[in-house]
Amino acid sequence: MKSAISRRDFLGATAGAAASATLLGISFLDALPAQATSSFVRRDVGGMSATDPVLVSYGKAVQAMQALPNTNPLSWAYQAAIHGTTLSGSNTAWDTCQHGNYFFWSWHRMYLYWFERIIRKMADDPCWSLPYWNYTSTAERTLPTPFRDATSPLFTSNRGAGWNTGAASFPSGDVQYSAALSLSNFTNGSSSVEQSPHNNVHVDIGGLMGVIDTAAQDPIFFLHHSNIDRLWDIWLAQTPGAGDPLGDTTWKSTQFTFFDENGNQVQMTGCEVLRAQQQLGYSYEGEPAQVSPKCLLIVLPPWVFTEEVFAQLPGPPVELTGETVSFPINLAELRKRIALVLEDKNKTIFLQLDEVETEKPPGVVWDVFVGLPEKAAPDTESPYFVGTLAMFGPGIRSSKHHNEPAHFSFPVSRALAAALKTDSERTAVTFVPHGVLINGKPSRPEVKSPVRIGKAKLIVETKEENKKQ
Ligand code: C2O
Repeated sequence: MKSAISRRDFLGATAGAAASATLLGISFLDALPAQATSSFVRRDVGGMSATDPVLVSYGKAVQAMQALPNTNPLSWAYQAAIHGTTLSGSNTAWDTCQHGNYFFWSWHRMYLYWFERIIRKMADDPCWSLPYWNYTSTAERTLPTPFRDATSPLFTSNRGAGWNTGAASFPSGDVQYSAALSLSNFTNGSSSVEQSPHNNVHVDIGGLMGVIDTAAQDPIFFLHHSNIDRLWDIWLAQTPGAGDPLGDTTWKSTQFTFFDENGNQVQMTGCEVLRAQQQLGYSYEGEPAQVSPKCLLIVLPPWVFTEEVFAQLPGPPVELTGETVSFPINLAELRKRIALVLEDKNKTIFLQLDEVETEKPPGVVWDVFVGLPEKAAPDTESPYFVGTLAMFGPGIRSSKHHNEPAHFSFPVSRALAAALKTDSERTAVTFVPHGVLINGKPSRPEVKSPVRIGKAKLIVETKEENKKQ
């Protein structure tokens, strides 16, 4: 009985589970939909004009919240501080955002859910839903126009150069998430999306958005995260074998604190935010049918993943600066073993960078290439492009959210396969810094703080059918 559960099973199980949960009076289980009867649709902001009722209400709420004192949980400052703050003092739930770990998607989903309810109340618009910014679409690579109007509450002057004039746009390589859609292991899929597009968008926009402690003060933050949340749904729906970590008790039951629209404290767990539509009452415009995982059903994950170190790469420590930097991979030595791994479709090779640290936010994104031929231009459309490195939170020593160095990992099977086709003895891992596009042209990257990569290795992940039934 390993097959996916049918839709009908889901519905049946939901009804049964809801009944028994009510009977037992257990409120933290996942079967109690908060808004099962409502159906909010989070729309794409692309093409919305400043007079769109969604943006009018959002602006009205932001203004009302900005007028409240910092100590009021419904104030703009307090809500932003729940994510991160530079304000002194500590208030309930401040500085609780989750980055660099497997709570990234779930914590931000909870945060948005309560934020959206607060906006509804503050705008006096009970039908309001948070829009999303689909910057991966080539039509939406500049900041949405209504957020650039200096007279709007959705504006802040504290953004990187060019965003508020419309000159700045995202380089294509910064807003990709196809790597994530190839990774069915939850932790890998989630951290891949956290790297790209998530961190890149923060760093590229810069200003308030560029730093964890201030990011949520910019009204565009919530449209960025609405999109990241949509990518959770898309990852589940489109990635073969993808699943939430329902066998992981800590992930399922860790409680996080927020405030509801009446200013009352609320707690939420992973189990309560698995199904956007059924439990939280919303879907995204244009998204595929939502997958509906259930905490109460003990369904074993279809796959188990194991990882082993394939090779330590002796190049690092290396320092990333404003110039292209690389360190070698000895292909002659690894060629045969790599070829063997590449033959097995259940194995994926990852490049993992460890002990990644910097003093303060570098303000730059690095494109990462594996196997780039010596004379080839660093093209993010080529098979050698494996992803991006952008520091946001973990690994930044001056940030409150720093508690350990950051790790980055990239699936590199495709890049290594391309590199093996050449007969060179050595190849390399290459880091190319870049700025945002200004009027469609690359701008010069200005690295505010170099990044040190302490260690690097290749890892092989093996995906096996889960035989325990
Ligand atoms: Cu918790 Cu995009 O940040």
